[in-house]
Amino acid sequence: MRVNGKEYRTIWFENNLVKIIDQTKLPHNFIIKELETVDHAVNAIKTMEVRGAPLIGATAAYGIVLAIKENNNFEFIKKSSEKLVNARPTAINLQWAVHRMNNKLSFIKSEDLFDVALKEAEEICNEDINFCESIGLEGFKIIQKIYKKKKNKVNILTHCNAGWLATINWGTATSPIYQAHKKGIPVHVWVDETRPRNQGANLTSYELNEEGIPNTIITDNTGGILMQRGEVDICIVGTDRTLSTGDVCNKIGTYLKALAAYDNNVPFYVALSSSTIDWETKDYNNIPIEERNSEELSHIEGKDDKNNIRKVLIYPENSKSMNLAFDITPAKYITGLITEKGLCKASTPDLKKLFNK
Ligand code: MRU
Repeated sequence: MRVNGKEYRTIWFENNLVKIIDQTKLPHNFIIKELETVDHAVNAIKTMEVRGAPLIGATAAYGIVLAIKENNNFEFIKKSSEKLVNARPTAINLQWAVHRMNNKLSFIKSEDLFDVALKEAEEICNEDINFCESIGLEGFKIIQKIYKKKKNKVNILTHCNAGWLATINWGTATSPIYQAHKKGIPVHVWVDETRPRNQGANLTSYELNEEGIPNTIITDNTGGILMQRGEVDICIVGTDRTLSTGDVCNKIGTYLKALAAYDNNVPFYVALSSSTIDWETKDYNNIPIEERNSEELSHIEGKDDKNNIRKVLIYPENSKSMNLAFDITPAKYITGLITEKGLCKASTPDLKKLFNK
């Protein structure tokens, strides 16, 4: 997608280095950062310079490439794989990508490891781009249907950033929006700010602006009244892990939005590629929910009137705070899952049928 009119992917390999867009600097600064070692990749995932389930999976795949470049000894690759998997706990894509890389590398001669790993990491990225594009074409049909009935601008609510910045390109939840916009359907996006890290305001609104898509940032508590007033036609969100039961784990606050949508008969869709499906875990209480530093709540960063980026404390100094990063939306509140293979109900039989499991 575009930044200042130029096409970018979120991650790529160039001159023997991995290049990323440092998302902690957006929206005020667009900075491309180089990752030279596997520890750089682990750190980029932990500090959320890269974030979003598909993108952290891709970064982990490139992390393996960087590990092999440093030392192609089996023990080093194994330790590096563990560090990458443990960098963040909730998105299943990390495990998925590291397992896929290691499977590909087993029985490969040491002198070929680097080339095979690089090819597989590229394959993971290209596949994600194609899957996200297919999700867009599938989700477009839903938006088109609403437009045909309403004959007026379609208002879409999204949470966090499941946009191209969370994937390699297109995004999951935003991909249908980009397709609708390209095909001339008037759309407007309600962008949940997504406290505490503000991925909605800082990233989703930013990327929609770059593509010229009308959007309005709202606080995380505003969606409910907008739905009551009939100002939301559809919700589309992403996911960090979807169980085969159809239960969806996504950024904290997704569940409350799904409840409000359910109460107001607003269709609530989750967009995902198959790399985000956890076929093993059956009970959503067993999903590890990331708890991040409480400083992400107590401090806020922004640009002052002299254009300096500053971080300030906004809470009473002695107050305690808690920062759970994800929640679960049970399948019963989900209208449908938009996947690269098509649309399905959030249920075990439908998911299994769609993915031939
Ligand atoms: O903590 P983040 O910013 O990595 O969380 C991202 C999300 O919750 C996204 O909705 C999810 O990863 C879907 S990405 C297409």
